[in-house]
Amino acid sequence: MMRIDIISVVPDLLSSPFSNSILQRAQDKSLAKIHVHNLRDFATDNYKSVDDYQYGGGAGMVMTPEPIEACIEKLKAERNYDEIIYVTPDGKTFQQRLANQISLQQNIIILCGHYKGIDQRVRDEYVTMEISIGDFVLSGGELAAAIIVDAVVRLLPGVLNDETSALTDSFQDNLLAPAVYTRPPEWRGRKVPEVLLSGNFKAIDEWRQKSAEIRTAERRPDLLSD
Ligand code: ADE
Repeated sequence: MMRIDIISVVPDLLSSPFSNSILQRAQDKSLAKIHVHNLRDFATDNYKSVDDYQYGGGAGMVMTPEPIEACIEKLKAERNYDEIIYVTPDGKTFQQRLANQISLQQNIIILCGHYKGIDQRVRDEYVTMEISIGDFVLSGGELAAAIIVDAVVRLLPGVLNDETSALTDSFQDNLLAPAVYTRPPEWRGRKVPEVLLSGNFKAIDEWRQKSAEIRTAERRPDLLSD
């Protein structure tokens, strides 16, 4: 079982994504355990503060080291962690390859930033991996963490059944997924490609491969040269 601990100042943002659909099923089947920790519970002053003005001046608050330290130290005393991930726009861009890699780990911590981010010394002291989910800025790390957890947990053995197998996903072989069709065989004058109705599995496989290649060449030629 993979254990994921998420540290956040807005834990409510993370309740719904993990209590539905595949992520809920993974937890029900004890294939993953996701714990969300409210950083404010680890604040030490009367105001439960977790941020402060930045040295050198400038707009925006910075998350202080002590509450993060208290939370991480408590978790580390309970078990060993393979990675402590900080989600931040200046991290390494998240891709399927990284999701595959993280899915092989046992215990990970994901630290969500807010405001201007966390004190650099916390990054230097604890963080082993910094991930961005793309070149845009979110108002906090929670939605980025939810995306990473979703992409990782669905890869754990036993989470998906045959019908939803991750092996045929886009990106797993550097190709986008092929076009897919279901009933009816004709809709608004648009027909399902004949070959898919043929029952000839070799021809179907070839058609899907071709469809994936055409799509990738049209939409993401960069993947083909990777
Ligand atoms: N926090 C704010 N923006 C983010 C992004 N693009 N990726 C990861 N964490 C973030």
